[in-house]
Amino acid sequence: MVRVVKPLVFVLSLGPVAWLVWAGLTGNLSANPLSDLTNETGVWTLRFLCITLAITPARRLSGWNGVIRFRRMVGLFAFFYGTLHFLTYVIADRFASLDFPNGIVAWTTVQNLVKSVAEDVYKRPFITVGFTAWSTMVPLTATSTAGMIRRLGGKKWNQLHRLVYATACLGVVHYWWLVKADVRRPLTYGVVVAALLAFRLIKGTGVFSRPGRR
Ligand code: HEM
Repeated sequence: MVRVVKPLVFVLSLGPVAWLVWAGLTGNLSANPLSDLTNETGVWTLRFLCITLAITPARRLSGWNGVIRFRRMVGLFAFFYGTLHFLTYVIADRFASLDFPNGIVAWTTVQNLVKSVAEDVYKRPFITVGFTAWSTMVPLTATSTAGMIRRLGGKKWNQLHRLVYATACLGVVHYWWLVKADVRRPLTYGVVVAALLAFRLIKGTGVFSRPGRR
């Protein structure tokens, strides 16, 4: 079952980026396509984080232990979309506002780009929070392999991977902070993340445990 569903989940997870490429190439984005790419990849990062966090509750509630085998892949897709989001911001927001005194292909371009990103991360609080959220995903991704799980040991690995709770919370704060007036969408994601984290707190009380299951 997992062997059949896994490639399907993989292909479905590539759907949003495939759609964005298609929409970009065929002119089906808005008048500001780079902003669309930043926003869409941001929302998909948050969605994949929510799906990752939903896998343990789904396993507990359904009793289908095999579902855990999708968690790593879905988590890696959260990082994939988060990195695309970060890169579109770097290009659309930072690179586009640079001057090129020595032409585009120059060492000063790289230096000015890094400086511009660093200054923005320092100056704009919602960017600071977004960057922190993305940074928390780096150690999670780096330790996602079976070899790293073995090297760290299950207990340490589990402790480290609780960092994903902070990633999701920071993602919601970042979203909340950037919307100007209508907070309904970040609020919805906030409620979803709060519910998924509350499940873990309640789980600790044993309410969801079934006889014979971990
Ligand atoms: C876990 C990491 C992150 C998540 C979950 C996330 C999520 C989001 C979401 C949901 C949006 C709004 C989309 C919409 O309005 O439809 C957004 C927009 C944005 N994010 Fe992020 N983000 C993350 C990391 C970052 C990072 C690292 C940066 C840059 C350093 C960044 C910069 C931006 C910018 C510039 C916008 C567009 C703001 C605007 O509309 O003016 N984000 N992000």
